[in-house]
Amino acid sequence: MSDVHLIQHPLVTHKMTHMRDKETSTNRFRDLMHEVSMLLAYEVTRDFPLSSVDIETPLAPMKASVLDGKKIVIVSILRAGSGILDGMLQILPSARVGHVGIYRDPRTLVAVEYYFKMPPNMESRDAIIVDPMLATGHSAVAAVDRVLETEPRSVKFVCLLASREGIAFFHESHPDIPIYTAAIDDALNEKGYILPGLGDAGDRLYGTR
Ligand code: URA
Repeated sequence: MSDVHLIQHPLVTHKMTHMRDKETSTNRFRDLMHEVSMLLAYEVTRDFPLSSVDIETPLAPMKASVLDGKKIVIVSILRAGSGILDGMLQILPSARVGHVGIYRDPRTLVAVEYYFKMPPNMESRDAIIVDPMLATGHSAVAAVDRVLETEPRSVKFVCLLASREGIAFFHESHPDIPIYTAAIDDALNEKGYILPGLGDAGDRLYGTR
């Protein structure tokens, strides 16, 4: 398979089951998305560089390692990406934030951009692009295309749930960009929703249905 990291830790899988359950309330769904996102942040930053600083413990001076959080940019694909963003910011509080506003034309399922804002000096930053659902892959590819124009040091894509079709479409355009996901489902319906999936992630996150 292409560069896909399927995060199957029991904690992640357990929380995903509750997110999929249609009886789960908006409130609980939002909390679960934050919790899963923190666990995914742990995996996606696994190979991020550390630098050395001089500190003093209560007993002795030492050289210690730190992650430069300011070099990380979490890029939220609006609107449901903001659920992952909020969770990841709890564990990466110094990270910078970018936003890509993209909606799917319901007729053509093609991605249309309406907003784009990134921090400056992207060439020295590692971008983590987040969207809960990698369904057809059109929005993800459009978002990655735009972020790549800013020439970040590296790019990774994080979602909660991916379809096989979405992964294939994504990696046709961006074979070198790794995908981190908590689950992979087999099918898409005629409206481009993942089956069995978890429904409309934005509606379930914000209670808009
Ligand atoms: N977006 C969603 O919110 N859910 C899907 O299943 C597909 C795209």
